[in-house]
Amino acid sequence: MEGFAGKVAVVTGAGSGIGQALAIELGRSGAKVAISDVDVEGLAATERELKAIGAPVKADRLDVTEREAFLAYADAVAEHFGKVNQIYNNAGIAFSGDIEVSQFKDIERVMDVDFWGVVNGTKAFLPHLIASGDGHVINISSVFGLFSVPGQAAYNSAKFAVRGFTEALRQEMILSGHPVGVTTVHPGGIKTAIARNAGAAEGLDRDELAQVFDKRLAKTSPHRAALVILDAVRKNKARVLVGPDAKVLDALVRVTGSGYQRLFSPVLRRMLAPKH
Ligand SMILES: NC(=O)c1ccc[n+]([C@@H]2O[C@H](COP(=O)([O-])OP(=O)(O)OC[C@H]3O[C@@H](n4cnc5c(N)ncnc54)[C@H](O)[C@@H]3O)[C@@H](O)[C@H]2O)c1
Repeated sequence: MEGFAGKVAVVTGAGSGIGQALAIELGRSGAKVAISDVDVEGLAATERELKAIGAPVKADRLDVTEREAFLAYADAVAEHFGKVNQIYNNAGIAFSGDIEVSQFKDIERVMDVDFWGVVNGTKAFLPHLIASGDGHVINISSVFGLFSVPGQAAYNSAKFAVRGFTEALRQEMILSGHPVGVTTVHPGGIKTAIARNAGAAEGLDRDELAQVFDKRLAKTSPHRAALVILDAVRKNKARVLVGPDAKVLDALVRVTGSGYQRLFSPVLRRMLAPKH
C-alpha cells in the first residue's frame, strides 16, 4: 500500500484498540505520529512500538474533553513537527443503559468524550490542517451512528452527532476550497477493550455485557480496522464502513428505512441488555 511518508498524523485514544493500531500502521507507513490518551500506560506501550519501528513519535497525556488543553496541544504538535496533516479523532467510551434508568451525568459523559472530544479535536487542528496544504480530518463514529439500538441511547446520540458534524465539515471544506479531506468512519464490532472499559446503568451486569460484546459482536481485529481506515483516507472517502457486519447492517437499514427498529430491537435487546 502507498505510504504516508513525511505526513504528520495525530491520533487520540492511541493507548488501546483502534487508535493504537492506527498509530502503529501510520508509523509503519512512514508518518510522524503524535499520540495521546488518558491511559498513560497504554500510551507508553504504543510509544514503545512506534520507537521500535523507527517512527518519529510525540506522546502526551491528553483528555479530549479538556478544550483549552486540546487547543494548546494542537499548537504544540504543529511546533514540534513543523506542520500537521491528519487528525484521527478516535478516543471514545461506551455506556449501556435504557434512558429510563440512565442518569443525566452518564449521558453527558458519553457526549463529552465521544462528541465534544471530536469537536474539540477538529476545531483545534483545523487551522493547522488547512495551513499544511494537504490535510485530513478522520472522525470515528460507529455503526451506531447509522442506526439506533435499545440500551445505547447515549452512545447512539454521540455517534449520530459525530456523523452529522463530520458530513457537514466535508461539504464545507469542499465549498471553501480548503485542502482538507474529511472521512467519517463507521466500524462494526472491533475486538478492543471498549466494552470492558464501558459504563453501565445500575442493575446491569457490566462483565456480562462485555462478554457478550467480546464473544458475539466483536469480529474484526483492530489491525484490520486500521488498514481499512487508512485505505479510505488515501482515497479521501466520505464514509467508510469497517467490517462485514457494518456492511450488512448498513444495507439492512437502507432497505428497511425506519422498519429496522422492529427487526433489530428484539434481537439486540437480548444481546445488549440481558437484565432488562
Ligand atoms: N470497538 C468497537 O467495536 C467500536 C465500534 C464502533 C466504533 N468504535 C469507536 O472506536 C473508537 C476507539 O475505540 P476502541 O474500540 O479502540 O476502544 P478502546 O477502549 O480499546 O480504546 C479507546 C481509547 O480511548 C481512550 N479514552 C477514553 N476516554 C478518553 C478521553 N476522555 N480522552 C482521551 N482518551 C480517552 C481510552 O483510554 C482508550 O485508550 C471509539 O470512538 C469507539 O467509540 C469502536
